[in-house]
Order: sequence, then structure tokens, then C-alpha cells
Amino acid sequence: TQAPTREDKFSFGLWTVGWQANDMFGPASRGPLDAVEAVHRLSDLGAWGITFHDDDLIPFGSADDERERHLKRFRAALAETGLVVPMVTTNLFSHPVFKDGGLTSNDRAVRRYALRKTMRNMELAAELGASTFVLWGGREGAETDASKDINAAMDRYREGIDFLAQYVLDQGLGLRLALEPKPNEPRGDILLPTVGHALAFISTLQNHEIVGVNPEVGHEQMAGLNVVQSIGQALWQGKLFHIDLNGQRGPRYDQDLVFGHGDVLSSFFLVDLLEHGGYEGPRHFDYKPLRTENMDGVWESAAANMRSYLIFAERSRAFRADPEVQEALAASLVPELAVPTLNAGETAADLLADRSAFEDFDPDKAGERGYGFVRLAQLALDHLTGAR
Ligand code: GCO
Ligand code: MN
Ligand code: MN
Ligand code: MN
Repeated sequence: TQAPTREDKFSFGLWTVGWQANDMFGPASRGPLDAVEAVHRLSDLGAWGITFHDDDLIPFGSADDERERHLKRFRAALAETGLVVPMVTTNLFSHPVFKDGGLTSNDRAVRRYALRKTMRNMELAAELGASTFVLWGGREGAETDASKDINAAMDRYREGIDFLAQYVLDQGLGLRLALEPKPNEPRGDILLPTVGHALAFISTLQNHEIVGVNPEVGHEQMAGLNVVQSIGQALWQGKLFHIDLNGQRGPRYDQDLVFGHGDVLSSFFLVDLLEHGGYEGPRHFDYKPLRTENMDGVWESAAANMRSYLIFAERSRAFRADPEVQEALAASLVPELAVPTLNAGETAADLLADRSAFEDFDPDKAGERGYGFVRLAQLALDHLTGAR
């Protein structure tokens, strides 16, 4: 596997390599990471972009001059390395003010504050050349159903997202919004828990054209869902604006493992989908370096994400190029699914007149066929493991 290059479009959240590994049961096991160092190290490893929450780069509550000082250093590091900022996001979950959410807090003043914090950060995102603005509603939710009027919460969520999208359009910020679903954590239950919920919500927006999704691999898997199908549908709907790649092992707490260190088969098929399904956006990693690692391990883990992706991409190419795979795909009728079920211009009357579709069709015989999917699955595994 080759080393990563800028063409691979690998990007990392500043909060990923910068995570100090404080968890529910213990304090940080690593020191803070300076944003300028993160830019240089990621660039050296072959990454293309860096992303951040406002508060990752500019500590919450910073005075204006302090804010400028942080931005100046960061901009200089970007200019020096050529690293880009493809996406920016807002922290509406850490400060206690957001403990009942940002856009859907029961407290109206908090909702207005959340809008202002996000608008300010959108302007920064546009200044830095970002094209995607992620909104992860980590605190938009509840622990008890007694606390949240869901009808009103959805109204406020829609009001907030539509307002922010309109602001982008009015100010000509050139951003697209990407909603990031997650079923739970930190709230007991989070609104827009899955890609499916988010896509349905987006369809109700006034400004739906510039709103899509930022699915995270592990978040769909936390909900017990097939992430390849979730992302496949988002792509099909033209709504896969961005992606958070990482690893997760089944429904449990959000593990944010290195990409490929969770469900390996699913990672392989996801890369196959992204590489061959028309996705052209960033390959963004949102993971947490294990708490067991020191800074050497952090950079090792950053490199591991990109290496995993490149391995899967290479294995996917080999899988698709294998004549035996092509023959097996044909035998399994995989290409036939792309053929429309009805003939061009065929009407209901035409279908009713087609005896071969019903009267002369033998369902028992058709039910006897074997589809050969096990053979396909094993060919994929053979390629994935390098056995072929
Ligand atoms: C998670 C989430 C977050 C968001 C990020 C962007 O793992 O809980 O993915 O990491 O992606 O905060 O807002
Ligand atoms: Mn994420
Ligand atoms: Mn996560
Ligand atoms: Mn995360």
C-alpha cells in the first residue's frame, strides 16, 4: 500500500488527534496538542485537510484579540503546509449552557445564543475556505420523555436549521450544511438518531437543497444498522455531503476507533461504495486515539486510519478486477438489478397483458434458483484478507 497523498483527500478533526483521553472514569492521559503542531504533523503524514469546532481552536469565551491571535497562528500553519480546511463545525455541547441542547433547548435564550454562536462560526468557516458546515446535535435530546415536547422540538430544530441555511444563502457564504446523526451519547436519546431520520427531516426544510448529512460509521452501528446501506441511501439521494470514518464494534458506547479497527467487512464494503459510488468529498476521520497511547501512539493512529482506507481501496479494486468475481457477480444477477423493472413506456395495461409476467410465470421454479451470494461473500473475504 502506497503512502497517502493530498489527492486521497484525507482530513482529520483537530479534536481527534487533540483528544486528551479524559473519559467518564478518569482524567486526561495525554497533554494538550497545539493546533499548529497538529497541522504540521498531519501534513507530514500525508493528510490533505483539517477540521475543527470553534472551541477546539479558540477556547470558549476568548476575547476578540485572543481569538485573532489563535486564528493568525493557525492560518500561518495552513499557509506553510498547504493543508486546507474543508469543513468546520460548532461546539453546541460542551459548555453547561447547552446541557439541554442548543437549537432545541427548552430555554429560548439558549436557543438564540446557539444560533449566534453558530452564525459567527459559519463566517469563520467561509473565510477559511470551507465548503461544508457540520451540525452534530449531541445535546439535542432527552433522558426522560417527560422533559421534551417532540413536536415542538422538531419545530425548533427545523426553525434553527432553516434559519442558519438562509443566513448562508443571504451572506453568500458558499457553505452546505451537513447534519450528523447519532442515536445516543451524550444524551440518553438524541433527536435525528439515524441517517434515515435526518434525511426525512431534511425533506421538510425550506432550504433543503443546501442541507445534507454527515454520517459517522460508528453512529449507525451503535443503532445496530448497516452503515453501508445508510450511506448508500444518502448517496442515492444526493445528500452525502461529508463523512466521518471510524470504527465501532456493535451497539454499545461510542468507541470512535481507528477506521478499520471495528467492523472490518463493513469498512471494506463502505470504501468500495465511496470509491466506486460517486462520492467525491473529503475522507474525514472522526476517531479517538486510544487512552492507552502516548503522543507517538496518537500519530501512529492517525497514520493507521489512512493506511486502513488505502488498503480497503486497493483490495476493492482487486476484487472488482478479478474475472472470477465478475463472473460470480453476473451469476448472482447483481448487474440485473440496474435494469428497470418495466420496459420503457410500459403501462399498467401493457404489464397486465404480458402473460409471461404472471399467468405463464412459474414462481415455484423461480423460487428454486440459488443466488450464489455466499460465493460472492467469500470472494470478497478472500480479497479483503489478501488470500486471493
Ligand atoms: C461523536 C461525534 C462528534 C462529532 C463532532 C462534530 O463521536 O460523538 O461524532 O465527534 O462528529 O463533534 O460536531
Ligand atoms: Mn462525528
Ligand atoms: Mn462517534
Ligand atoms: Mn467523535
